[in-house]
Amino acid sequence: MSKIYAAITGVQGYVPDYVMTNKEMETLVDTNDEWITERTGIKERRILKGEGQGTSVMGIEAVKGLLKKTNTDPAEIDLVICATVTPDMPFPDTANIIADAVGIKNAFCFDISAACSGFLYALTTGAKFIESGNHKKVIIIGGDKMSSIIDYSDRTTCVIFGDGAGAVMLEPNTEGYGVIDYIHHSDGSGQAYLYQKAGGSRFPATPDTILAREHFVYQNGKPVFRAAVEGMSDVVLRIMKRNHLNADNVAWLVPHQANKRIIETVSRMTDFPSEKVMVNIQKYGNTTAGTLPLCLWDYESQLKKGDNIILTAFGGGFTWGAIYIKWAY
Ligand code: UT7
Repeated sequence: MSKIYAAITGVQGYVPDYVMTNKEMETLVDTNDEWITERTGIKERRILKGEGQGTSVMGIEAVKGLLKKTNTDPAEIDLVICATVTPDMPFPDTANIIADAVGIKNAFCFDISAACSGFLYALTTGAKFIESGNHKKVIIIGGDKMSSIIDYSDRTTCVIFGDGAGAVMLEPNTEGYGVIDYIHHSDGSGQAYLYQKAGGSRFPATPDTILAREHFVYQNGKPVFRAAVEGMSDVVLRIMKRNHLNADNVAWLVPHQANKRIIETVSRMTDFPSEKVMVNIQKYGNTTAGTLPLCLWDYESQLKKGDNIILTAFGGGFTWGAIYIKWAY
């Protein structure tokens, strides 16, 4: 019997309408368009406004679009995985909330929390269920409402992040298209540099945690920058080497969108020319688990069947990795 691969058969994204420009950032903190553009490459980001609007709102729109585009009956979906660090609530998982809203009734659903690497981890996990032969249609969502955990008085973090979500459909393929290989890593000592201190079981919400602004993201940018460059370059080079790939026979590098300078350095260290590197950070900022599916969505019309594609990400945890995909359509 031929090997079953998990092929991506559709991709859809959703970003909220509200555009927060660098000019608007200037009214919130001591920053300017020139600094943000030069140091990060970001010009604007999307923000999900409105009372009671969680990450699921964006996931629902992405999944609705995906079902329509792939002409899929919600009843056919076996599994939904949502990668996010900004779930609607600690539980139930956002994947369940999204599935319920779009009429997916025959699936089991769960979230994966791996910060900016969440989509990669979820994609590998979903691929394993397809490869098992037991699951035929799996939806992987990556999305975050970062504006819900960002301190808009901290200029070192607030300029970077935005809100957005994307989703892909995975289906079995026996012709060699789909997820071919992956490398994933975690290093818990990275918790010192990037975290949200309060709101979990160690420091539940109290008036003191709120006054100390501990429900917001803390980041020590420089060590994270260094680790991101080293981590992503290493896994990209290793996954290419063991699959006999190089920048000539890979069509696209799809890097996590955290900082344009990180993307450029990783591209240089892995020998990718800029025209083969997906970049949309200028319009969305860092949407955490949303960046990779939003890149695939933005570039979908340029992808060709058989393209070799390398996805890579690095984020809080630390978590990082790379996936090699052969594009299926
Ligand atoms: O996605 C998850 C993983 N995260 C990442 O990969 C992010 C990695 N880190 C970064 O992208 C960068 O470190 C940042 C964008 C967060 C910061 O850039 P940087 O070049 O490392 O700046 P820095 O923190 O060293 O700060 C340089 C200067 C400082 O001023 P002094 O001390 O030199 O006077 C900062 O206070 O820039 C100042 N600064 C700002 N100035 C204007 C920091 N943030 C801002 C700002 N506007 N928004």
